[in-house]
Amino acid sequence: MRIGVVGLGMGLYLASWSRRLGIDVVAGCDRDAQRRTDAAAALPGADLHEDWTALLDLDLDGVVLANDFDEHAPLAIAFLDRGVHVLSEAAACADEDQAKALLAAERRSTATYSFAENYVFHPHVELLRAAVDNREIGRVTLIEADYLHGMSPEDVAGLIGDPAHWRGRIAPTAYCTHTLSPILALTGEQPTEVSAFLVDTTDARTAAVLVVRLSGGGLAIARHGFLQGEPDSHWSWVSVRGSEGIAESLRAPGERAWSVRVRKEAWTAPDGVVRDEERAPKAVTLPDGTPVEPKAVGTVRILEGFRATVEHGAAPLVPVGPAVAASLVGVAGARSLREGSRPVRMPEL
Ligand SMILES: NC(=O)c1ccc[n+]([C@@H]2O[C@H](COP(=O)([O-])OP(=O)(O)OC[C@H]3O[C@@H](n4cnc5c(N)ncnc54)[C@H](O)[C@@H]3O)[C@@H](O)[C@H]2O)c1
Repeated sequence: MRIGVVGLGMGLYLASWSRRLGIDVVAGCDRDAQRRTDAAAALPGADLHEDWTALLDLDLDGVVLANDFDEHAPLAIAFLDRGVHVLSEAAACADEDQAKALLAAERRSTATYSFAENYVFHPHVELLRAAVDNREIGRVTLIEADYLHGMSPEDVAGLIGDPAHWRGRIAPTAYCTHTLSPILALTGEQPTEVSAFLVDTTDARTAAVLVVRLSGGGLAIARHGFLQGEPDSHWSWVSVRGSEGIAESLRAPGERAWSVRVRKEAWTAPDGVVRDEERAPKAVTLPDGTPVEPKAVGTVRILEGFRATVEHGAAPLVPVGPAVAASLVGVAGARSLREGSRPVRMPEL
């Protein structure tokens, strides 16, 4: 399987992992010359370009889109229209028109669209999914997810202070896919209405809270941005309350942050005994026995899933529907913020 990669920041990380997994990264692209120089050293033999349109003519099986956060949809559509399978970083789209165009392109294409949402496959999320799928906690009613960085004010300013960079220009609600994608994957539901709140009205960029009504009747609460108390599980913490119990990430330091607690209430058990247990993820190794560190497990899963889609016709792990839905929650959230945190209906697509 021959792939190209657009954007060589996160894209270089994905390209390097692709090569480790046996995927042939034949081309890369970045408009930044230094990024291309770094990539030339890390990806010997890859054909490196300044202009992404050069990759359209390279007879690729697939492309990984890791360019600017709010510019993925036009590239995804162009590659889908060439019959090239797409693995796209977040966001899938920056507004409703792009969402419609992307959905239409995916429908008419001979190729597939996969969302590169590694947060759906982090070890703690996999443990939660098993508890939910095995009906251990009943029907999901309240689900919460955090994606939080406990950084100094200087480091936050360094990361998002430049309005010319995508991190500085996107709305404070936009980067919600690392919380919404696990929420949608764990519940299998759609977001129907979004209300957004700034955590601190004196500093609009610090953090946002999204309150999202789900199609099954339950509620989701997502917190993302820069708040102290960073979860050690790659900035992610998830809690799922069900009608019969709870399954949630441990709020613990270090490796235990990847573990979950599952509590099933006494009234739900035939023997009347409460069950409250801690579960740690199993170690993941590559076929050659090399251990995969927990924070890379999600990346390995999405790349292996992409290969299974391209080579064997497997269904995309995170298909275009939930990718667009998670991205549009950030768009609806931005509108809610502009309009006094009022609830905003999600578009019917
Ligand atoms: N899933 C994750 O864990 C994770 C982690 C980091 C970043 N990301 C995502 O990856 C994407 C990139 O993030 P990043 O941190 O690497 O950002 P970045 O700004 O450091 O890198 C993006 C690169 O893309 C290049 N680029 C942008 N538009 C281009 C174009 N039209 N043609 C050629 N090159 C272009 C830029 O020059 C830059 O080098 C974002 O969507 C981000 O959300 C995901």
